[in-house]
Amino acid sequence: MFSVLLPTNGLLVAALSLLLTRLSCSSLSLPDIPHIAAYFGTKTRYEEVNPHLLRDVFSVNASVLKPPPTERCSPVHLTAVIRHGSRYPTVKNIRRIQKLSELVRREASGGSADWLQDIQSHWQMWYTEDMDGQLVMKGRDDLRQLARRLSVLFPSLLSEENVQRGRISFLTSSKHRCVSSVEAFQEGLQQHWGRHEVEYSHEVDDELMRFFERCRGYVEGVENNRTALLEVEKFKHGDEMDRVRRRVAERLGLPHQRLTPDLVEAAFFLCSYELSIKSLHSPWCFLFDENDAKVLEYKSDLKQYWKRAHGHAISSLSSCPLFHHVFRTLDKAGRPRRSTEASPEPASVLVGHAETLLPLLSLLGLYKDQTPPTANNYHSQHGRSFRTGRIVPYAANLLFVLYDCQRGPRLQLLINESPARFPGLEQEDAPLYRDVRATYRHLLDGCDFHRACEGRTGGRGPNTEL
Ligand SMILES: *[C@@H]1O[C@H](CO)[C@@H](O)[C@H](O)[C@H]1NC(C)=O
Ligand SMILES: *[C@@H]1O[C@H](CO)[C@@H](O)[C@H](O)[C@H]1NC(C)=O
Repeated sequence: MFSVLLPTNGLLVAALSLLLTRLSCSSLSLPDIPHIAAYFGTKTRYEEVNPHLLRDVFSVNASVLKPPPTERCSPVHLTAVIRHGSRYPTVKNIRRIQKLSELVRREASGGSADWLQDIQSHWQMWYTEDMDGQLVMKGRDDLRQLARRLSVLFPSLLSEENVQRGRISFLTSSKHRCVSSVEAFQEGLQQHWGRHEVEYSHEVDDELMRFFERCRGYVEGVENNRTALLEVEKFKHGDEMDRVRRRVAERLGLPHQRLTPDLVEAAFFLCSYELSIKSLHSPWCFLFDENDAKVLEYKSDLKQYWKRAHGHAISSLSSCPLFHHVFRTLDKAGRPRRSTEASPEPASVLVGHAETLLPLLSLLGLYKDQTPPTANNYHSQHGRSFRTGRIVPYAANLLFVLYDCQRGPRLQLLINESPARFPGLEQEDAPLYRDVRATYRHLLDGCDFHRACEGRTGGRGPNTEL
């Protein structure tokens, strides 16, 4: 990268040592992060949610575990529902990126801005269709590092012995990026104990981890139903997006009709991919200021809200099998035992998608703002809790921690390694498990996947109460 002349006089030596000092300082300081990195929705890096990890990926904050200090408690079970790590774009986005890069190379005439010259003369289209959504190296690291932090946070559950004896169950979606993620998680645990020969074990279970594609009512009523996603379409072609499109076209020196909303989004995602895959601050990022990024973030959040979350009750109901699976596991782990009985499963690790986590979080009643986001209320939604970049970045995780306490079992939720409270039980971080069960009684006794998914299709308006 650098060719250095041999110093022949004192001045050069001084200059050289100054250069070396600067190089070594910059390699110690934090990498250069695009100013719009927190607005990438489901394409956000985990580090944007937990920036302390940029300094130390293994830093663990044990005070996130909050059983009541007045009771003696010890964790007895962990269920972790985890999203796969950073990945390549899928084919659809790779094709858009291809189109965008050709357009900009051939037609952009935005003048002499450094970043535009960088794009036009240095940036190479390097994404190929065979990458289609696969986990990248950084994504493997996401899961390995998460596993190591969790084994520090829960040393008695994710212990070497429990893993060696196969007492921890690993379930995953069949998608390549998820299988690779569940393997990386196990590598992380093994590395933590200084082992290098990793024996992988996992089961594929799409009924649990890809329930959304098996729910006919959801597929027909929402996923393939343009009316169900009307708010997204309206916003995509509305004033806010149009202003972003014009600003971006102007910066590129393109007639704005040449730049469709999809291509604007492709450029935004390109900035996200270069960061999440290669830790690069891409020249494409300079196309957007913070206000543009907020509009594009809102567009993604609208889509997730109406497609995967509170927008339509059937989306969250489709996760009933996973909900029941989690609570059955917790029931077993919390049940009183005779000393002769085998101790319960210490941990269950379930790896899936943003599309797995969002419906489950919605079913639990989390991130439900008073006013739903729509195409028309962008300006009143700045304080919304439903921000997918905070909720489901790459390697997002929803942890159910069951404690054995003096007054009985207690349950705590952690989302992306931070404490979260159950809606309706906000007074306590770790309420009694029986109170959690009482709060979700209607789901524990109902929430019938087959009735919800195969029964009446259509006719479910937005926000139907469960
Ligand atoms: C650790 O977690 C606690 C509880 O969430 C939080 O209040 C505290 O600020 C965290 N400490 C650090 C250093 O992040
Ligand atoms: C499509 O969505 C709309 C709005 O939610 C709904 O009224 C309609 O019944 C849905 N169509 C089908 C076929 O489910």
